Amino acid sequence: MSQESFAPVTGDWYYPAPEIVRDANIPDYEAVAQEAQADLQAFWAKQAEQLDWFKRWDQVMDDSQAPFYKWFVGAQTNIAHNALDRHARTWRRNKLALIWEGEPGDKQTFSYWRLWREVNKFANVLKSMGVNKGYRVTIYMGRIPELVMAMLACAKIGAVHSVVYGGFSEQALADRIEDAQSRVLITADGAWLRGNIVPLKETVDEAVHRSPVVESVIVVKRTGQEVNMEQGRDYWYHDLANLPIASPICETEVMDAEDPLFILYTSGTTGKPKGILHTHGGYQVYTSTTLSWVFDIKDHDRWWCAADPGWITGHSYIVYGPLILGATGLLYEGAPNYPYPNRWWKMIEDYGVTILYTAPTAIRGLMRFGDAWPNRHDLSSLRLLGSVGEPINPEAWRWFHRVIGKERCPIMDTWWQTETGGFMITPLPSVGLKPGSATRPFPGVEVDVVDEHGESCAPGIDGNLVIKTPWPSMLRTIYGDPDRFVNQYWTAYKEQGWYLTGDSARKDEDGYLWIIGRNDDVIKVSGYRLGTAEVESGLVSHPAVAEAAVIAVPDEVRGNVIYAYCIPRTGFAPNDQLIDEIKQHIRHEVGPIAVPSKIEFTETLPKTRSGKIMRRVLKARATGQPEGDLSTLEE
Ligand code: WT7
Repeated sequence: MSQESFAPVTGDWYYPAPEIVRDANIPDYEAVAQEAQADLQAFWAKQAEQLDWFKRWDQVMDDSQAPFYKWFVGAQTNIAHNALDRHARTWRRNKLALIWEGEPGDKQTFSYWRLWREVNKFANVLKSMGVNKGYRVTIYMGRIPELVMAMLACAKIGAVHSVVYGGFSEQALADRIEDAQSRVLITADGAWLRGNIVPLKETVDEAVHRSPVVESVIVVKRTGQEVNMEQGRDYWYHDLANLPIASPICETEVMDAEDPLFILYTSGTTGKPKGILHTHGGYQVYTSTTLSWVFDIKDHDRWWCAADPGWITGHSYIVYGPLILGATGLLYEGAPNYPYPNRWWKMIEDYGVTILYTAPTAIRGLMRFGDAWPNRHDLSSLRLLGSVGEPINPEAWRWFHRVIGKERCPIMDTWWQTETGGFMITPLPSVGLKPGSATRPFPGVEVDVVDEHGESCAPGIDGNLVIKTPWPSMLRTIYGDPDRFVNQYWTAYKEQGWYLTGDSARKDEDGYLWIIGRNDDVIKVSGYRLGTAEVESGLVSHPAVAEAAVIAVPDEVRGNVIYAYCIPRTGFAPNDQLIDEIKQHIRHEVGPIAVPSKIEFTETLPKTRSGKIMRRVLKARATGQPEGDLSTLEE
C-alpha cells in the first residue's frame, strides 16, 4: 500500500493509520497470501509450529478420502495443553487470562495459573463422574467463568463438549442431548439477564425428562435461588469440587490431532439441527492464527469478544483462540443495555478494552440509544473493532467507526460459519476497508462466487459463495450423519470438490466480497441462525396449527424478524389470545429468538405443484414487492 493512501477516508475506502500498519502482526496481506498460495501445506505447517505437539505430524493434510479431509495426520496434541498447561509454566502464569463481570456488578479475574488450576479441578470432578475420553458432555449455562472451565476441562480429559446456548428451550436442549447421547450435563442454578434470573435448571429438568439419557447433572451455583435437586442425579459443583478427588492437578489426555474436540449444533434446511464436529489439531492452529493476524493480538491487549461462549464465535474467539495466544479476554454475563445503555461503554473504559468484537445487531441496537451514552465514556483505549454474524449495513458500520472507534479504529468485518471454525473472509488491520464488505479471504483460503454450473460470476453478479481449498479448522462431519455432511456441503459442486457455504454473495471490481445473505432455508434473526423448518415444526406441534410457513422480513435492529403464516385446524377460531398462546408455545419448543413477531392465520399457503411452500411469494406479499413468476404455483 502506498504512502499517500494513508488518508483515513477516500471515497468509499477507509485506510488504517500508518502506525496500525507498522505495528500489525501481518503488515503485508499480499505477501502472506502469496506465500500460502505457493505451498498451502508448508504454510499451515509453519503456523502449526507455533504450538506444542506431543508428537509431530507425518502429513500436514490428507485429502485421500475427501471431503473427509484430515489435518496434521499422525500428530498428537491436546488443545487444553496449548491453551493452559504451557502458559502455567512460563511468566504467563501471572498474566490475566480472563476478566469476568456479572450483570449485577460482581467481578472475578483469573490469571493463567488460577484458570489452569480451576480447570484441572473441574476435569477431576468430571473424571470422578465417569467421564472419559470420547464421552459427550452437554453444557447449558450462562456466561460465567465456569462455562469456560467446563469446556476446557472436557478438552483436557478428551471428552467432547456440546455447548447448548443458554437461550434455547427445553425441547431444543433435549434434542441436542439426545443426538449427542450425553450422560453428563453441566448447568447452573440460573443466569442473570436484564435484572431477571433465567431459570436454567428448570429448563434442564424438563429437557432431561424428555431425554432421559442423562444420568448426572452438575449444577454450578450462580444466583443462589432455590432449585430442585434430584437425589442421585443432581450434584452441586461446589460440593464435588471440595472432595479430595478434585485435586488441582490433572494430567492432560494425549489426543490424536483428528480426535473430536466438540460438537456444536446449528440450524440447517431440515428441522433436525446439525451437530458440527471439530477436532483438536487443525482447530487449534486455525483459531489461534486467525485471531492473531486479524485482531492483531498483543500481550498488552485486552480483548473483548462480546459473543456467547455457546456459539462458535465464543468457542473459537472467547475460549480457545485467545487462550492459545496467551491473551487477556473479557467475559460479561448480561445484557448490553442493563441497567443503562452505557453498560458496554463503561466496561470498555473501566477495563481499558483495546479490541471489541461484536455483531451488527448489537451495534444497531446500541446505536438507537444515541451518541450521548458512548460519548460519556473514555473509549480511547480502543485500537480495533470487529463485526460478525450477518452483513453489516454501511450506516451501522459508519456509526461504529465514528462514535465508538473515533475514526481511528479499523473494523474487521469477519465472514465465517460454525462449520468453518474460524474467520474465512476478513480484512487484516493493514488493508483498506469498504463499509459493508468483509473484503478478501484469509491467506490460504480460496473462495469464489459462482453460478449453478460452477462458472465464476462477473463482478456485480450474485452467485453462490464457495470455498475451493481445504483449511485446518473445517468441519469434519455432521455428528452421526456423514451422508448429510456430504450432501449438504459437498454435493452441489461435487466434480470441482468445492465447499458450498449456503450464502449468496457478489464480488466487486477490486475483488472485494459482499455477502448478501443465506440462500437456503436459514434465517438470521439478531445474528442467530434458525432453520425455517425448526420454527415451522414448532408451530405445527401446537394443537391449533394444521400447517405453517415462516419467512424472514427485514428489521432495522434485528436484521430480520420472523413472520409466520398458519392454517388453523378445524374447530379453532383464530384470535389474539390464540396468537399469544402460540408465541408462548414457540418460546418453549424452540426458544425466545424463534418467536415470530407476527403470526397471521390464512386458509391456504402458496405452494408449487410438488407441494413445496413458496416462501418467496409470502415474502413478496409481506414486504409489498411484486410476486414475480407464479407459473409453478399450484391452482
Ligand atoms: C452465517 C453463519 C461465524 C460466527 C457467527 C455466525 C452469516 C456470518 C457474516 C459477515 C455477512 C455473515 C452468513 C453465514 N455471516 N458472518 N461478516 N457478513 N454474513 O455463525 O451461526 O454458523 O452463521 O452467518 O450467512 O453463512 P453461524
